[in-house]
Formats: sequence, structure tokens, C-alpha cells
Amino acid sequence: MSVDVMYRDLKAKLHDVVPDVELRYKAELALEVNQLKQEKNAVVLGHSYMEPALYHSVADYKGDSLELSRKAAETDKDIIVFCGVRFMAETAKILSPSKTVLLPAKEAGCSLAASITAEDVRQLKARFPGVPVVTYVNTYAEVKAESDICCTSSNARAVVESLHDDTVIFLPDEYMARNVAKETGRHIIIPTLSSQNSTEVDCQLIGWHGRCEVHEKFTVQDINRVRQQFPDVVILAHPECSPEVVGASDYSGSTSAMIRYVEQTEAPRYLLLTECAMGENIAAANPDKEILQICSVRCPHMNQITLENTRDALLYTQYVIEVPEEIRMRAAQAVKHMIAINASGA
Ligand code: 13P
Ligand code: SF4
Repeated sequence: MSVDVMYRDLKAKLHDVVPDVELRYKAELALEVNQLKQEKNAVVLGHSYMEPALYHSVADYKGDSLELSRKAAETDKDIIVFCGVRFMAETAKILSPSKTVLLPAKEAGCSLAASITAEDVRQLKARFPGVPVVTYVNTYAEVKAESDICCTSSNARAVVESLHDDTVIFLPDEYMARNVAKETGRHIIIPTLSSQNSTEVDCQLIGWHGRCEVHEKFTVQDINRVRQQFPDVVILAHPECSPEVVGASDYSGSTSAMIRYVEQTEAPRYLLLTECAMGENIAAANPDKEILQICSVRCPHMNQITLENTRDALLYTQYVIEVPEEIRMRAAQAVKHMIAINASGA
């Protein structure tokens, strides 16, 4: 493929969302990435939050964290470049230990993953012995290794219900736990590790105080104001938003579920309460629909991934994700349990 062909291809998809002057430069970079992919026998996985030019040019597979974990487990390529954040690249390494997994930006973290340590989970398990631990994939390998099963935003309810257990520890996203508690009709407590007096409370979902630094910022007031200005707007919220925001929205689902919802709904106008880049990607794919975004709220981690550092990742084999084998094996159990639940449609 020549730069001209790549440019025309990107222009056809992105003419409404990326200025022409930038598209030609992005086309050159995208072509370089695609050539390097072939030379190095690599696959690029692109999360829905990637910038439009990257998302629509070099990602061999696009999707939410669950779909990309599955692709990481299935690939026969030697190298996986994960255009997402560290916990996602780690999950790929956990599932495909013989592959080289690269994260284009060394520091691309996540406020949820940073909110809990393996020691925190061990203390909770000591305090609530025998209670199964469900861990959101937005955690690091050491935390997954202490867990019975993982979940993502697309299967959290199914995973909790699959356990057939009255009480479940659900970590570390407080808002997602509250949303799951609401969906499953469970009581929720968020214990503090220091207080030792409430192990006998009548609870069914034990949460943690982690939050997504992006989704926690959306408010019901934002929703009310947007509805005042655009009475026909359909509002979609990621389940990392507060239960109040989810309750005031028309739909809540994982990043891929939101993409499908817009594709399959007839309404002319949508507001997405999630990272702004996804709105641009949906706008590009649905030119007949108007997509409103609140772009002052951005994920500083996802935004570190660019076409430039994706090219450099392949060029210089950086930044290599490693997970110690003893931790990887235990974390893999929890991730594979989750994948098996979804595969069986539970
Ligand atoms: P998804 O599982 O919906 O892709 O979400 C991951 C994430 O980090 C959202 O902020
Ligand atoms: Fe983490 Fe939130 Fe960024 Fe997703 S949007 S990667 S949950 S900080």
C-alpha cells in the first residue's frame, strides 16, 4: 500500500473528525506501522479509546477489554502490541506467555489498577474467609493472582451471578460494584481495612474504594443540562460512572456495547459519558448520527498511546511487559475462569 492509498482510506473514514492537514502525516505513520507489523510478525490490538487515526488504520483487532483479551489468547503472531494501558497489556502477557507483549507508552497506567495492592486483597480474604473474590480486569497481575475470577465491564453481573454465592468480594471499582449490586439486588458495603468490627454485617457485595478518574467526573447535573439543551439526546454511560449517573442515563454498557447500541439505534443524537476519543471513533463510523462528547474529561493514560510511539514500539521492541511466572500462573486461572464463563454464555 502507498501513502496515497492509506491517506485516501483514512480520509474516507475520518474526513469529518480529523483535519486534512493532519491526516496525511498520520497516513505516513500508519503505513510505517503496518510495514513493521509485517516484518516483525506482529499484531496490534486497539482499545476503543485510541485516537481515531490510530484506531482506524493500524489496529488489527479493535474492541473492549474482554474482546481484546480473547484476541490476545488466540493470536499466532510473535509480537502483540497493545494500544491500551498497562493492565490490558499485562492481561495479554498472562494469556500468551510465549509472546513478546509491547506497550507503546511505559507509563500508561490506570487509576483503578493503582487503587489496590495484592496485600489489600490478602487482608480482605483474611477478614472474610471463604468469600469468593471477583476482580475487575483493570488491576495488575499481582491482584489478579489473589482472585478467584476476573470480570470486565461487559460481564461483571454474569460473573457475580455465576458464583451462586450469597456474599462476594468485588474489587476494586466502587461505582461498578454499586452498579452490580443494584443489578443483582445485593446489599453493598465498602469496608475499611482498619476497622475490625463489621465482619458479621448482613452484606452480599463487599466493595473497595477504587474509582476511574475519568468516569467519576460525570454528574447527573451534566446529564440534566445536556437534556435541557438537546431534548432528543440518547445518553450512554460506562458502568465505571456512579450509579446516579448510570440511573439518569438511557443505557449503560462496556465500550463495545455502547458502540453496538449507537449502531443499532435510530435516534439522531447521542451523548457518550466515557473517554472522548471513543465518541470520535463512533462519529466517524456513524456519519448520519450526531455524537456529543464531554471532552474536558480525558483519560491521561490512554491518551499516551500514539501512532508515533506505536511505530517506535515495533522499531525498538519497547516497552516489553513481563509478569513473574509464579504470579502469571495464578492470575491466568482467574482470567481463564472469566473467559470460560463468557464462552459458556453464563
Ligand atoms: P471496557 O472493558 O469497556 O473496554 O473498559 C475498560 C476501561 O478502562 C474503561 O475505562
Ligand atoms: Fe483506567 Fe479510567 Fe483510564 Fe479506563 S478511563 S484506563 S478505567 S483511568
